[in-house]
Amino acid sequence: MLHDPNHLYIFDTTLRDGEQVPGCQLTTPEKIEIARDLETLGVDIIEAGFPVSSPGDFQSVVELSKAVDNVIICALTRANENDINIAAEALKYAKRPRIHTGIGSSDMHIKYKFNSTREEILDRAVAAVKHAKSLVEDVEFFAEDAGRADLPYLAQMVEAVIAAGATVVNIPDTNGYCLPDQYGSKIQYLKENVKNIDQAIISAHCHNDLGLATANSIAAVQQGARQVECTINGIGERAGNTSLEEVAMILKVHAAHFPGLTSNINSRLFTAISQKVSSMMRMPVQPNKAIVGKNAFAHSSGIHQDGFLKHRENYEIIRPEDVGLDEAGIILTARSGRHALKHHLERLGYTLDKEALASTYERFLVLADAKKDIVDEDLLTLVK
Ligand code: KIV
Ligand code: ZN
Repeated sequence: MLHDPNHLYIFDTTLRDGEQVPGCQLTTPEKIEIARDLETLGVDIIEAGFPVSSPGDFQSVVELSKAVDNVIICALTRANENDINIAAEALKYAKRPRIHTGIGSSDMHIKYKFNSTREEILDRAVAAVKHAKSLVEDVEFFAEDAGRADLPYLAQMVEAVIAAGATVVNIPDTNGYCLPDQYGSKIQYLKENVKNIDQAIISAHCHNDLGLATANSIAAVQQGARQVECTINGIGERAGNTSLEEVAMILKVHAAHFPGLTSNINSRLFTAISQKVSSMMRMPVQPNKAIVGKNAFAHSSGIHQDGFLKHRENYEIIRPEDVGLDEAGIILTARSGRHALKHHLERLGYTLDKEALASTYERFLVLADAKKDIVDEDLLTLVK
């Protein structure tokens, strides 16, 4: 598969790594609705499920393959023939199918998960990729727990699976263990020590156990990874996965650090898709979540509100409209200043002179102390 080295491939796993979170399960029609939204959002790959895991997951991969046309549909397997055959069967209607197979790469997993040896695991990895390659052209290999794997062994594994036909090599930090410079160095090491590395795309798949999933993914991109695996709202196992919207906005805000790097993501759709995923999966978004949290664009302290109203870029590095919000939220609280109150009154059509504003502000403070949320109706009562 020829890939564009200037394109950052966005691999969305909301419907696989995200959906496996307890309580987040979706019906097939719900998955189709989200998959269509992801296609419109501009992701390159949708991981649709793990077909061998249940008849429902198998059927979802079949239906998503039929429903989505312009995106690669990917199915997860373990490194065995049965899983891979079932995934290929589930993907039979996909216009662009991908099998995502893999096995543990850390000594921890080799010993305590597989009770095996490095040599045997290497053979199983190669055999799985060869088998998947006999069924579909596009094969991604994941080296599970690569975050804690021995680097020379990881490099050996990556080289062997690329020689066996892997088009993408996924280096998961399965346990969210790495620091950004450690994860970035791993990618750099693979770039420098795997002979055939240019024949495949390196993919970053990070978990958020230490709150570093996005930072680690970005470190990987800086070292040459060209696919990032992520989810809407960062949902996923335990503390979650890399958040898609954070990666996309980092690339936008810091475009100068990623010269020439493109993605197809339309960030203006973030708010809508975030809310849909949150409500369908019954998984609230934390209010202070970057980009899509309720407070991500809300300025509440008087000093910030005043500075923002003088020039929004005093306190704003992203335009709310760039993520699909109407305008920045100047929230009225007991810590808001006159400037913020004036802004809201003018929005409602009331322009007060200095004296009237001062007396309204005094009454506003009494109300704001007593009542946490000041809404438009409260303001109307105050001015009337
Ligand atoms: O975190 C992980 O290692 C995974 C693999 C199955 C890709 O989700
Ligand atoms: Zn994962």
